[in-house]
Amino acid sequence: MIGMPTLTRLADAFLDRSVVPGYSRLGPALRQRWWPADPAPGSMAGRRVLVTGATSGIGTAIAEGLLELGATVHVLGRNRTKTDDLVARLVAETPGAEVVAEVCDVGDLDAVRSWAQGFTERVGTLHGLVHNAGALPPERSETAQGHELTLAVHVLGPHLMTALLADVLAPDAAVVWMSSGGMYGAGLRDDDLEFTDGEYSGVRAYARTKRMQVVLAAEWARRLPGRHVYSTHPGWVATDGVTASIPGFGALMGPLLRTPADGADTTVWLLATRPASRSPHFWHDRAQRPSTLGWERGQDPLRVRRFLDQVAADTGVAQR
Ligand SMILES: NC(=O)c1ccc[n+]([C@@H]2O[C@H](COP(=O)([O-])OP(=O)(O)OC[C@H]3O[C@@H](n4cnc5c(N)ncnc54)[C@H](OP(=O)(O)O)[C@@H]3O)[C@@H](O)[C@H]2O)c1
Repeated sequence: MIGMPTLTRLADAFLDRSVVPGYSRLGPALRQRWWPADPAPGSMAGRRVLVTGATSGIGTAIAEGLLELGATVHVLGRNRTKTDDLVARLVAETPGAEVVAEVCDVGDLDAVRSWAQGFTERVGTLHGLVHNAGALPPERSETAQGHELTLAVHVLGPHLMTALLADVLAPDAAVVWMSSGGMYGAGLRDDDLEFTDGEYSGVRAYARTKRMQVVLAAEWARRLPGRHVYSTHPGWVATDGVTASIPGFGALMGPLLRTPADGADTTVWLLATRPASRSPHFWHDRAQRPSTLGWERGQDPLRVRRFLDQVAADTGVAQR
């Protein structure tokens, strides 16, 4: 936003704070008049990126955007047939595309460990990692290791994966955590991470774990000096996930929802251009955004520390 005229900056901030216009398809339609330039054609040639949750919606659009820029893309899904079908489709659509299927349930910490071992043995260097897999389950459920599902898929699995892949991340690699604007409605919790208080709501668990992703991204930015670590939110995007998890919202917003390509735009742009960023590294529509609302004071460091301690204990990833 540096160098942006004051009126444009005000219009941009208005779109962000007023939520409905900014998060809908109007956001990118207006902002593309002033946002930074598109990545140069071929700017991802020779770069290898892993995208989780690639078999649907925004994840598929991220893979497509990266392939268009010349990247080699490892598409990670949890279902072998679905993942192989995606690879076949992407190769057919983009002649010469280098796409590799990866199968792993991101919420299963044992699966993440064994998949990551094979991946690091097969792959020398990774230039991009996108934690995009996400879920909004109606009922509380637990993974093989006994963790609540949204905590495992959004927080513990990606945290463990980042640690296990850290040694193969290129010195200028970018890591993007796909959070959600819904995280604005949730403070960071350092107690009851597993949502055992008996008042489970999928929407609340989703928002709380999306907040945790933003905090974790800022922590990984600190732990991986030289690399570019960001969190982002895609706005409101028409995907199977929205139709299945929040059908009322999808029906209400209908024509105002963004396309998956709109939702993927900032992630692809971040990976390709790797802009300078300052903590807490939260981005939306090609600009850095506040991660807490005006009347909040940012994250309480003690609460962040207790949260990180719990994540370290759950994943076995030692704090650096
Ligand atoms: N759509 C929106 O408006 C919106 C708004 C804010 C944030 N987001 C975030 O954007 C990301 C993508 O959302 P979307 O709307 O594209 O959702 P989607 O269509 O439901 O896609 C979610 C993807 O995550 C995968 N996934 C779920 N659990 C997994 C697991 N345990 N292991 C591996 N992969 C798993 C799904 O795999 P399957 O294909 O096997 O189900 C699917 O590929 C999510 O993190 C979501 O929270 C979306």
